[in-house]
Amino acid sequence: MVETRLIDGKAFAEAMRARLKGEVAAFVAETGVTPGLAVVLVGEDPASAVYVRNKGKQTAEAGMASFEHKLPAETTQEEVLALVQALNADNAVHGILVQLPLPAHIDAQAVLATIDPGKDVDGFHVMNAGRLAVGLDALVPCTPLGCVMLLKDTLGSLAGLEAVVVGRSNIVGKPLAQLLLREDCTVTIAHSRTRDLPAVCRRADILVGAVGRPEMIRGDWIKPGATVIDVGINRVEKAGGGTRLVGDVAFGEAQGIAGAITPVPGGVGPMTIACLLANTLTAARRQAG
Ligand code: GUN
Repeated sequence: MVETRLIDGKAFAEAMRARLKGEVAAFVAETGVTPGLAVVLVGEDPASAVYVRNKGKQTAEAGMASFEHKLPAETTQEEVLALVQALNADNAVHGILVQLPLPAHIDAQAVLATIDPGKDVDGFHVMNAGRLAVGLDALVPCTPLGCVMLLKDTLGSLAGLEAVVVGRSNIVGKPLAQLLLREDCTVTIAHSRTRDLPAVCRRADILVGAVGRPEMIRGDWIKPGATVIDVGINRVEKAGGGTRLVGDVAFGEAQGIAGAITPVPGGVGPMTIACLLANTLTAARRQAG
């Protein structure tokens, strides 16, 4: 049995937001420009609405301008593209985020491709994804960036460590693999078709769950002492009625095996918005400079 440490993403994100608030104030004093973040939400997905509300609140708390554009689910692709183009041209807007998923009739890749890469604070534009892949300066996706910050805070140098990322999405799995490679990890991306997934996971010094399947990664898939990052946020039915949030890792089973683990909620989640604010300030600096 090892003592499993909790990785407190909530506290880390709070400290980061406090630091950013100071940096934003200094930037405003120096340039007279208030960094602005525009968030576009199409449709009424309740989870997305909660995220968007939190983003708006924390953007304002950091001293930045928040512009929310809530569009009905029937909005056409042309209307979304026209809004993105207007935001590209708006000097008060330094960062643009289009909340995913978009309704099925809208081509998400076409929308992401329309965002000015310099304002792409999600880092989802192919220009930023490509720049990350070849090792150039890029706006980097927020959740993977938050994961790497927590890992470096927990472990120090990541060089030479075996990292297994379970999940291959464009939002988390693929960009996280790129970032871990940049930190000199040996990186495996595993997914639903991986053969003997438990054995692959047991190789990991750093194990990341980013598949969106409640508690799929079991305790006996974890190498004793490994650092576990749980990106999953899954709402499941409680035995006695109601719902609760669980990650992609069976958190209870990981206790006494993992060396350190992020809880759900309060682990990776709060880091995503903190990194979004950091990206917005970075984008504003580049546009001012
Ligand atoms: N939906 C789930 N995560 C994200 C994210 O990081 N950015 C955007 N735009 N949509 C999301």
